[in-house]
Amino acid sequence: MTTTEPGSGADPGQWSGLGQLERDLVLTDEDFTQIRKLIYQRAGIVLAEHKREMVYSRLAKRLRHHGLIRFSDYLARLARQPEAREWEEFTNALTTNLTAFFREMHHFPLLAEHVRQASGPVRLWSAAASSGEEPYSLAMTLLESLGPKASDARVVATDIDTEALARARAGVYPIEQVRKLDEARVKRFFQKGKGRHEGFARIRPEVSSLVDFQSMNLLAPQWPVKGPFDAIFCRNVMIYFDKETQARILERFAPLLKPNGLLFAGHSENFSYISKVFRLRGQTVYTLASHR
Ligand SMILES: C[S@@+](CC[C@H](N)C(=O)[O-])C[C@H]1O[C@@H](n2cnc3c(N)ncnc32)[C@H](O)[C@@H]1O
Repeated sequence: MTTTEPGSGADPGQWSGLGQLERDLVLTDEDFTQIRKLIYQRAGIVLAEHKREMVYSRLAKRLRHHGLIRFSDYLARLARQPEAREWEEFTNALTTNLTAFFREMHHFPLLAEHVRQASGPVRLWSAAASSGEEPYSLAMTLLESLGPKASDARVVATDIDTEALARARAGVYPIEQVRKLDEARVKRFFQKGKGRHEGFARIRPEVSSLVDFQSMNLLAPQWPVKGPFDAIFCRNVMIYFDKETQARILERFAPLLKPNGLLFAGHSENFSYISKVFRLRGQTVYTLASHR
């Protein structure tokens, strides 16, 4: 099998050669075990046994970048340089950044109502912001529900993946991704690219100016964010952590929320079994258990 895209016009012989090179990299069971251990220590991510292929293909790029053919050499290199920038690349390569604008749509009317009723300047935190679709959806909701008062509101957006954050800061997305939004939102919040930007849409400054991006590891002993927040979005990242890690993070969220603040979880994440600090208030939305 070659990796040639249909209609790419590339010489198939040349591409099959590349594929061969990819498969020639040596990933032993020990290397895979070591990689699983390192990403768990660094990011809390529990990589399942069946993710071997994924690990191979994602880290292969890093090996090729360094001209290495053995994963053990790559790992030895990392071990020799605990402060190397390569650690960031290693982490970036092993995170999963899947996201979308207004993902889990049912959260947004609830958020809109919550911020309308808030007293004082509204502050929201997107704690696994990925490439920006989530924090920008929060900012759009602020603009829609608060009107001109949204200029006092802020969205703090953090993620461990510095490459995803760079894409988030750029705020430029393929037009197909943006077309899934309703037309009024596209018109109001995006600028369509022309010329060499054809096929892309950029978030308008009125939206991006509400969002502050910062790199942050949810496992870090100190978090650079300061509460209190009206709402924390921590969606579709806890699934990668074990229960102890999830519980520790939930305990740390609690003091950063306003007393009536909301915690939004992902569709397959259930925090009720993990910590007593939060109680379910609606579909995958939590409030502080201490708040009545
Ligand atoms: C699947 S995306 C979810 C994006 C968005 N919250 C959503 O639901 O659409 C998971 C994100 O969590 C981030 N992540 C993984 N481990 C992390 C950690 N230890 N600290 C902070 N972010 C992390 C990844 O880089 C990735 O961008």
